[in-house]
Amino acid sequence: MAGPLPIGDPAPADGSLPAQAAVGAADRTFHAYVHIPFCTVRCGYCDFNTYTAGELAGARQSDYADVLIAEVKFSAQVIMDAGLPKRKLSTVFFGGGTPTLLPASDLARILEALRNAFEIVEDAEVTTEANPDTVDADYLRELRNGGFNRVSFGMQSAVSSVLATLERSHNPENVSIGVAAAKELGLKTSVDLIYGAPGETLAEWRQSVETAIAMQPDHISAYALIVEDGTKLARQIKAGQLAEPDEDLQADKYELADSLLADAGFDWYEVSNWSRGSENLSAHNISYWASQDWWGYGPGAHSHVGGVRWWNVKHPTSFAAKLAEGNSPAAGRETLSERTRLEERVLLEIRISEGLSVDLAKKVNPDAGKLIAGFIADELVDAKAAIGGVLKLTLKGRLLADSLVRKLLAD
Ligand SMILES: C[S@@+](CC[C@H](N)C(=O)[O-])C[C@H]1O[C@@H](n2cnc3c(N)ncnc32)[C@H](O)[C@@H]1O
Ligand code: SF4
Repeated sequence: MAGPLPIGDPAPADGSLPAQAAVGAADRTFHAYVHIPFCTVRCGYCDFNTYTAGELAGARQSDYADVLIAEVKFSAQVIMDAGLPKRKLSTVFFGGGTPTLLPASDLARILEALRNAFEIVEDAEVTTEANPDTVDADYLRELRNGGFNRVSFGMQSAVSSVLATLERSHNPENVSIGVAAAKELGLKTSVDLIYGAPGETLAEWRQSVETAIAMQPDHISAYALIVEDGTKLARQIKAGQLAEPDEDLQADKYELADSLLADAGFDWYEVSNWSRGSENLSAHNISYWASQDWWGYGPGAHSHVGGVRWWNVKHPTSFAAKLAEGNSPAAGRETLSERTRLEERVLLEIRISEGLSVDLAKKVNPDAGKLIAGFIADELVDAKAAIGGVLKLTLKGRLLADSLVRKLLAD
């Protein structure tokens, strides 16, 4: 969802899906992502599709739940018209932007609309992202009563100077208060961390990981800072005001995080994600990595059904206008070729602890056998698993995951 939208084919105004979308649908699960495109201020590193009050050009946060509910109803009709089998939602994820800038009752109302349109599998994972300053126990209780059972907190760092460099406005103490309140209410919890802010030392990163672990969330994500074009951070680095993240230090930080997390009982299950036991991994994330079907609701959101992918217009005002006319809010779409679908599977599956099947790698690249022998020799993949037919990254391999993918997908 970050950056400009892709250039694809025109999307039909009635949202209708090509026949391919329905092929094999009964064997795939169905998921919903709900994008809430509002933030109080924009953090210097972020290029997600989100808008501060001054950028809304007439769109109103107070109208947003109704606009979103219009897309939910629209999607139910499109899915029925496409002849897709009736499938309940297996997971729901509200992301942003800052979903928790909306009243909890609005989030619950959108969730209710999804439940009415599709039904939701019993005990399905229903998550919202939350900025630490925007939730308290009453807010979280309302979410829980509305059907949410998991909250993902944007912590990023425990160190004030690092948060200042990232231009994060939240009070770091509010993260542990929020996580404790969520746990008390029986909600599952996750925290997001970022490593590699300019000037961040290894000791400061250790402090952030240890602080996150001390909160005992069920799940922790740790992302390497990406310097996105067009962000204030990119401009500051270009102007020499801030240092570029150092690759070697980034690798040290990843290794440190993995070792601290493993010692604290968190297992990695995807390169940037760790959970306390398999019951706490994010089922929603896994649905993306396993190329299941999902509808992305909201401005700029991407959807995927059976190899058909489409994305909505980015601005909340044009998004609302399209739906008010009774039209699809999609800006473009593409139907993935069999080859592209295989390549995407390689890209995603190599990053997960379950691994990528050697057969699939060979389907994509006839020279994969030779490459894999090299990966084993360089200790990038587990030798025993590879001989058994699955490519599972070692710690060293996780640090070089992108380069392995580039080699496997090279023509
Ligand atoms: C887009 S945010 C939305 C949730 C919430 N607004 C927040 O900031 O916590 C989701 C997560 O993406 C990650 N993220 C955003 N921009 C990033 C970047 N440039 N590099 C690495 N991670 C990033 C952050 O860890 C953040 O928690
Ligand atoms: S709060 Fe989250 S979504 Fe909003 S600008 Fe910051 S990182 Fe981006």
